[in-house]
Amino acid sequence: MSDECPCDHDGEASGPVRPSLFDDDRAELQRRDIAKLLATAGGLTGLASLAAPLAGLQQVFQRTYTGPIYGESIPLVDGEGNRITPDRLEEGEQLTVFPEPRPGIGDAPTLLVRFPETEYGGGTELAYTVDGYAAYSKICTHAGCTVSDREGETLVCPCHYGKFDPTNGAAVTGGPPPRPLPQLPITLASEGHLIATGDFDGHVGAGGE
Ligand code: FES
Repeated sequence: MSDECPCDHDGEASGPVRPSLFDDDRAELQRRDIAKLLATAGGLTGLASLAAPLAGLQQVFQRTYTGPIYGESIPLVDGEGNRITPDRLEEGEQLTVFPEPRPGIGDAPTLLVRFPETEYGGGTELAYTVDGYAAYSKICTHAGCTVSDREGETLVCPCHYGKFDPTNGAAVTGGPPPRPLPQLPITLASEGHLIATGDFDGHVGAGGE
């Protein structure tokens, strides 16, 4: 192994001289490729920024059902049709549920949440809760996307970052939604599963008062 220092006359480290990136045709091609790549990425970013609102609009246009969603004694079921018993969720957990006889209609998805009863504030109708369970529409009141994300206890709509507080009547705490998510009155059936005692207490999805 050589002990010779690979230094120049000033004692600075030196090595083979490299051309600057744009010194030759090949580098120019690389530069054009990079520019194209950036333009494409910019285009994709632009499209992505349009995608969320468009997804929301699509949801609005798809909603044509105007009949009742729940009613007296309608069981709540999970995505596989199983009825919900009180041991289904721990406090702090949530589950998407549906009305048993008509789970496929567009406005049906419902967010079932569970918190200690003492955590519910004034916005949640306590008479509509049971054993710490409360249920809200999962359809955003802004443009009808599904409220599918969560940050801590906050329910979040991914389309335009609308936020709702499930311990306070799903009140809006951020973003553009104009109204809380409607609450569904629920109770326990004598057989021990969760049922609705009526329909949502407000208009489901975009529009409404
Ligand atoms: S659809 Fe816009 S925030 Fe939910």
